[in-house]
Amino acid sequence: MTQSKQRSPVRKAVLPAAGLGTRFLPATKVQPKEMLPVVDKPLIQYVVEECVASGIENVVIVTGRGKNAIEDHFDVSPELEAFLDRKGRSDQAELVRQISNLVRFSYTRQKEPLGLGHAVLEARDMVNNEPFAVLLGDVITTSANPATRQLIDVYEETGEGAIAVSPVPREQTSLYGIVSTDPLVERNGRKLYWIRDLVEKPSPEEAPSTLAIVGRYVLPPEIFDCLERTPPGRGGEIQLTDGLRRLAKERGLWACVCEGKYYDAGDKLGFLQATVELALENAEFGNAFRAWLRELKL
Ligand code: G1P
Repeated sequence: MTQSKQRSPVRKAVLPAAGLGTRFLPATKVQPKEMLPVVDKPLIQYVVEECVASGIENVVIVTGRGKNAIEDHFDVSPELEAFLDRKGRSDQAELVRQISNLVRFSYTRQKEPLGLGHAVLEARDMVNNEPFAVLLGDVITTSANPATRQLIDVYEETGEGAIAVSPVPREQTSLYGIVSTDPLVERNGRKLYWIRDLVEKPSPEEAPSTLAIVGRYVLPPEIFDCLERTPPGRGGEIQLTDGLRRLAKERGLWACVCEGKYYDAGDKLGFLQATVELALENAEFGNAFRAWLRELKL
């Protein structure tokens, strides 16, 4: 909470995308869940676009076996671009070209599914000694001011890490990391809580609150040392939440109720909700889709 801590700019983001996507089988048997299309873009492209809109310059994607399609999607596609140019479809050629120019990409692999905290640790060498953002590759957020940008602002103002939280129904606490906090502080129009403790996926009876971690984080590089010292936790995996628990105790950490909505699109219902909301906002066919939904007379 001190004002004197040195703040480096937040230029890098880590996107863990090595998970097996078992909640979305059979669609994810071969295809990475991060590549499932929501309206007309793969899920992970929304996440990368959030990075760009938040001022991130360098995106590190943590992949694993069977995830090559992610790397290919963000690479150039000379044959496709040349084909579209030849056919006079320059708009589409430009659309394809833009994807590889969104930001600077690097990749690292998590060889075994040892947990989200372990996946973040795999990016340590690429992040170096800088603050960085973490965006889960299967969570989409909608807000004119991206959640990651809001967290970067908190970091820049306070010098401490910040994670996005959102209230959830008590019966859903076992799906999320849950924070316990000091009372709400309003700061520059933002709703912040100073974190006391965090627990990964507690039962409704054990949950210390109903404020859930929603998949957006801005962290100081000290998190890596915290994760190095974190033993396997829930599910036998090295949990990011357990690493954050150390960080909160040893240094401090904010929880921020960011503007906007979150969709856990790695989950079938969350995916459908994200699809409907984004389809309704689509400039080309949003109105036609809305009219069709009305006709369904639900
Ligand atoms: C992960 C995190 C959890 C967080 C959630 C948000 O869980 O471990 O703390 O609340 O993402 O989506 P997962 O959904 O990968 O099981």
